[in-house]
Amino acid sequence: MKKIIIIGASSGMGMRVATDFARAGWRVGIAARNEERLRAVKEIFPERIEYSVIDVTAPDAVKKFEDLIETLDGMDILLYAAGTGWYNPELNLGKDEATIGVNVTGFTKIINAAYRYFKATANVSKGRIAAITSVAGMKGLGVSAAYSASKRYQWTYLQALDQLAHSQHVNVSITDIRPGFVDTPLLAGNRNYPMLMSVDYVAPRIEKAIMERRRVATIDSRWAIVSGLWSAIPDCLWRHLQLKM
Ligand SMILES: NC(=O)c1ccc[n+]([C@@H]2O[C@H](COP(=O)([O-])OP(=O)(O)OC[C@H]3O[C@@H](n4cnc5c(N)ncnc54)[C@H](OP(=O)(O)O)[C@@H]3O)[C@@H](O)[C@H]2O)c1
Repeated sequence: MKKIIIIGASSGMGMRVATDFARAGWRVGIAARNEERLRAVKEIFPERIEYSVIDVTAPDAVKKFEDLIETLDGMDILLYAAGTGWYNPELNLGKDEATIGVNVTGFTKIINAAYRYFKATANVSKGRIAAITSVAGMKGLGVSAAYSASKRYQWTYLQALDQLAHSQHVNVSITDIRPGFVDTPLLAGNRNYPMLMSVDYVAPRIEKAIMERRRVATIDSRWAIVSGLWSAIPDCLWRHLQLKM
């Protein structure tokens, strides 16, 4: 039986992808901080889902992640779906630090450990490492400075890992999944975001990108166009853009 571990599976996109994989017959390891929610997800497919309470910012995160791999007796796919971020034009430092903790430090710890796992088991199977980043990595967003910077970090780290895997002949594919706005708890119930997508719409596209070993998948095509346009805007014009949400 194939195995996937999803970090950040107590809500939103991670939770939905976890239950989809379990429904398709996979063994699924899920992790996040909220044990009550993790237990509720496990109860949907109790014989296929194992959970572990992991705070990716805590010193024991890597150890607990490795223990979860052991509990599942291996891992074919790691999906990093944990994330946090705020609309933060007032530059509240606590919010910026929390964003860096999950999206940069926690991300690095888990992706790094997953890469080392696949490197050590390269002859056994071809692994997949995937992360839900965001179109927000395309440009610095004045209203979410730490969030957009953290997403750019994730893009670059994944690109670097892909090159490293190639040069080290490590049998792993690296997928960077970049959605536009999705109606999840991260948006705190604000449904006024433009081109807002539902989890129902986004989840199958995430799963397809992982299974097809896409290097980068922007979800969806409208957001691919928007982020492509953003990338074409020179900095001298970008600074005049008024982003309001
Ligand atoms: N929603 C959007 O519009 C949107 C758009 C583009 C990209 N994204 C990205 O998509 C990813 C998934 O977000 P989502 O929208 O599905 O939001 P979500 O429902 O808030 O899910 C975030 C997940 O991350 C987990 N998490 C947060 N802090 C954690 C920590 N310290 N340790 C372990 N897990 C932690 C949360 O669980 P606990 O609270 O239980 O720990 C939760 O399971 C994030 O990286 C987000 O940046 C979201």
